[in-house]
Amino acid sequence: MNNIEKTLSIIKPDAVERNLENEIKEMFKINGFNILKEKKVQIEKSEAEKFYKIHQTKPFYNDLCEYLSSGPIVAMVLEKENAILANRDLMGATNPGNAKEGTIRKKYGISIDKNSVHGSDSIENAKIEIDFFFKD
Ligand code: CDP
Ligand code: MG
Repeated sequence: MNNIEKTLSIIKPDAVERNLENEIKEMFKINGFNILKEKKVQIEKSEAEKFYKIHQTKPFYNDLCEYLSSGPIVAMVLEKENAILANRDLMGATNPGNAKEGTIRKKYGISIDKNSVHGSDSIENAKIEIDFFFKD
């Protein structure tokens, strides 16, 4: 059965800073994702706080929002069969030290906070996150 989904991916500041944008996009393409939309932006800390609101009670929230707003990022809408789960699989575990071989975070992640990519975790959040960056 066909279940084409859209998900939001972000190439985070640590990866953009190391010029990994094209290599990471290539990994998406090789793995069958279409990049429908993309834009490179730097967001304000207040916007990062909104984006990561779901984590507002976590001890890492402030550092996370500082970090996401610390430099340019690339936001993308990815499309594929079961894109949300497929992207989570391709990203690998949040902590690159636990990420499997062949995943983006295993290959490029530096640490649990500088883990190179973000990906939506549910249909509902994918909609919210795509709108966050691409609502006109
Ligand atoms: O990004 P992912 O969905 O895999 O993980 P999350 O649990 O939703 O956490 C969001 C982001 O917060 C992670 O990608 C990390 O950048 C950061 N984080 C952190 O800095 N320290 C932690 N202990 C957990 C997450
Ligand atoms: Mg998450």
